[in-house]
Amino acid sequence: MKTAAITAVGHYAPDKVVPNSTYTAYLQTTDEWIVSRTGIRERRFLEEGGTSDLAVGAARRALAMRGIGAEEVELIIVATVTPDMFFPSTAALVQHKLGAKNAWGFDLSGACSGFLYALATGVQFIQSGTYKKVLIIGADKMTSIVDFEDRNTAILFGDGGAAVLLEPSEEEGYGIIDWVNYLDGSGEEALHMKAGGSRNPATHETVDKRWHYIHQDGKAVFKVAVVGMADVSEEIMKRNNLTGADVAWLVPHQANMRIIRATADRMGVDMSKVMINIDRYGNTTAATIPSCLAEYYADGRLKRGDNVVLAAFGAGYTWGATYIKWSI
Ligand code: COA
Repeated sequence: MKTAAITAVGHYAPDKVVPNSTYTAYLQTTDEWIVSRTGIRERRFLEEGGTSDLAVGAARRALAMRGIGAEEVELIIVATVTPDMFFPSTAALVQHKLGAKNAWGFDLSGACSGFLYALATGVQFIQSGTYKKVLIIGADKMTSIVDFEDRNTAILFGDGGAAVLLEPSEEEGYGIIDWVNYLDGSGEEALHMKAGGSRNPATHETVDKRWHYIHQDGKAVFKVAVVGMADVSEEIMKRNNLTGADVAWLVPHQANMRIIRATADRMGVDMSKVMINIDRYGNTTAATIPSCLAEYYADGRLKRGDNVVLAAFGAGYTWGATYIKWSI
């Protein structure tokens, strides 16, 4: 059966660069601490607008790369945990801003694994023969939910968007070959945003208690993320008879360099074959994986025929891996 292939990629990083040094005095942290514990040196902030603007910026680049107009897109899936608003969906706002008048679409909440969840969903619409052009976007304006008085999380996150276009694969054996995704809702306690939803709607009290921000037990998440990402990466390699040597690129979610190294280690993949941009963008949640693909493709390092393994872990807990034979 022919599968779906990524035929274009686009990345949108906001202009404002925020280096670690911005935090050091008022959060009593140091550049050295942040770099050694996370691998992050700077991140980008979107100063005006919402997640849909990050998504549109990325989508425009992907469509321009493919040389098609927005009206050719049939479905838009936006993976995000920072929608512009509860409703309408960010996908609706993106559809309108892009002028993708023939597309329907929806948002998907999979946190840091959101792009992989959205990719697996989009593949179904292509494989079934329903659609020929599906836009998958991972975008998050994390600064809208970061507590800048909490040094445990403030130093980790940034804003960004990235998009891929999915089309039927032209050639057998190329495109998205396999994927595996997981969900374990017992992760709620360690990583969540308490208020703003239907359980705890916004009140003065929820604001006073700082419940509209990310709450993360970093140590607990770190432990499960290391195991989860490594396990699922190993699983997808075994299922597809891949050794570390067969993998041209591991594309891990960019949350922490130490988690990335541990995953590469377990897979037997040398760090020279691991896509990394956490140093320049921090954790942009749903955008990290497609932003790596876009950057490495743009500068020629990611090439047709490469075996690419995507792997993510995030809030939920959500986690997963995808195996792609890169086709462009
Ligand atoms: N600067 C200086 N010290 C800091 C700090 C900062 N920015 N943030 C935390 N610390 C302190 C803590 O207060 C703690 O001090 P204590 O020992 O006196 O209590 C100490 O550093 C160690 O904290 P710890 O949480 O053990 O650090 P860590 O090595 O686990 O690193 C994270 C913290 C958040 C970087 C790490 O846990 C992490 O990356 N977690 C997973 C994040 C993730 O993958 N999320 C995935 C979904 S988005």
